[in-house]
Amino acid sequence: MQNLDFTQVLTSRHSVRDFLPDPIPREALDAILEAGRLAPSAQNRQPWRYLVFTDPEKIRQLNKNTGLIGISNYLIIKDAPCLIIACADASKSVSVNKQDYYLVDVAISFQQMILTAWSQGIGSCWMVAFNERPLAKYLDLPKGWRIVAMSPFGYPKDEKGMYTKLLDKFSKSERRKPIEEIVIFK
Ligand SMILES: Cc1cc2nc3c(=O)[nH]c(=O)nc-3n(C[C@H](O)[C@H](O)[C@H](O)COP(=O)(O)O)c2cc1C
Repeated sequence: MQNLDFTQVLTSRHSVRDFLPDPIPREALDAILEAGRLAPSAQNRQPWRYLVFTDPEKIRQLNKNTGLIGISNYLIIKDAPCLIIACADASKSVSVNKQDYYLVDVAISFQQMILTAWSQGIGSCWMVAFNERPLAKYLDLPKGWRIVAMSPFGYPKDEKGMYTKLLDKFSKSERRKPIEEIVIFK
């Protein structure tokens, strides 16, 4: 899975929900975070803020102390060697036509991180099923910050767990709509 070219990264990436316990090497983690830092943002405001957990015990404590990540997502992250929580300092965001752009900014930045991770053989899974308010309290986030998403990061296990198999079936992960259904030439 090393040195994938850009097209290979796009075509082979999929959500990973079963991880080996091996930690992510520091250089790889730095490259992932750097990819997020380099992202474009509305008016170059760069509202993203990332909380990085690499201590498995702290990752487990997150759920234990708050009981809010949701049982399914907890099962996914509990054995991951790294968890990144993608936040936004919403006060740094641009609002145009009553639309706040921090969600777009953070999504671009986080996806750049996810693709960079995958190019190095490191899997991840976007997660938004969490309860923001108690989580923000537990994390002691500054006022005005929003939690946009989170993802575990780690080397994929060869064998998919029972929960992953179920979820794959449920979400039909590999299915993509045909191009005609999503593109309108005008
Ligand atoms: C914004 C967003 C939120 C998601 N939230 C969750 C989640 O909370 N739990 C989960 O297991 N997967 C979550 N996913 C993963 C999707 O189910 C997955 O990306 C989709 O089924 C396509 O599969 P693939 O990533 O393997 O290509 C999320 C994905 C996105 C983009």
